[in-house]
Amino acid sequence: MLNEAKNFIQMYYDETGQSEQEMETRLIEVEQQILKQGTYEQTLDELSYGAKMAWRNSNKCIGRLFWQSLNVLDKRDLHTEESIFESLLEHIDFATNNGRIRPTITVFSSQDVRIWNHQLIRYAGYETENGIIGDPDSVVFTKVCQNLGWNGNNGPFDVLPLVIQIKDNPPKLFEIPKASILEVPIRHPEFSWFKDLELKWYAVPMISNMKLEVGGISYIAAPFNGWYMGTEIGARNLADDNRYNMLPTIAEYMGLNTKSNASLWKDRALVELNAAVLYSYKEDGVSIVDHHTAAQQFKRFETNELQAGRDVTGNWSWLIPPLAPATTHIFHKPYANDKKTPNYFYQREPY
Ligand code: ARG
Repeated sequence: MLNEAKNFIQMYYDETGQSEQEMETRLIEVEQQILKQGTYEQTLDELSYGAKMAWRNSNKCIGRLFWQSLNVLDKRDLHTEESIFESLLEHIDFATNNGRIRPTITVFSSQDVRIWNHQLIRYAGYETENGIIGDPDSVVFTKVCQNLGWNGNNGPFDVLPLVIQIKDNPPKLFEIPKASILEVPIRHPEFSWFKDLELKWYAVPMISNMKLEVGGISYIAAPFNGWYMGTEIGARNLADDNRYNMLPTIAEYMGLNTKSNASLWKDRALVELNAAVLYSYKEDGVSIVDHHTAAQQFKRFETNELQAGRDVTGNWSWLIPPLAPATTHIFHKPYANDKKTPNYFYQREPY
């Protein structure tokens, strides 16, 4: 921890242009705290900057141009399930901002708080005799919620409850009020039948199962969000055959020949689904970015980083968009997938 802490403090003081003197004083303070207590408390400025650096270092993220604009909500002093639930609602409302989405992270006490959800807002998945209803990715977690006493409506878009755990206590469930859940019904700019599919998606992706690591400290509950890139919804969540699997239905409605791979019915259905997603979010005034614009923004991020004397690490297989990847510069370039800290990491599910 001492090493990680020292490295981080040095980077932080260096990047933010503070004096050697101030850095030395802080280094001594941190070292003493670690030697005495086995850990140290980060200042709000350190934590905020660390969370931003963690975004900057997220190799899978194409949206990193905006790393400096992350809003950091410090909730390290909360230790009851109820107060944590309240602050998660605060996160949802602040981040959603009626559709003008604000990149936001809420950081909780590093050791005793755990959020069981994958994202703060996500749809349930139910196994039935006639196949899965809802999001197949949520089937296991939905069962966990049911075993904890939750009753869903067995619908395709039921928002799961928040599951919050303190220490080794049994987790507590909380329903998110409807008023806090902004969703976008998906329609198409030309195909009037598209709305009949009754597809929708939620406005804000808020990842809540990853840990934030800054200067040797692991914040295991630190939900964060940006805004969606359209393909996440249109080319994966609603399209993957192990998710909502909508391509066959859409191709049918489009009158395409689904018997022939060479009719490119999957490709053509994909494009229209993605056009519908972007159109609907934009018309509703909900922040979203198309993959071409996102790639251009990533290019600017690369230029900025180079100018700052830092090399850009990246995970190529995640950075290329799942639609028309070769139309972006990312496709044609190698990226070193070296892992720097601060960063966000996967961790074992608590269930
Ligand atoms: N891909 C995930 C989803 O579709 C969300 C991951 C985070 N995405 C983001 N744009 N910040 O739910």
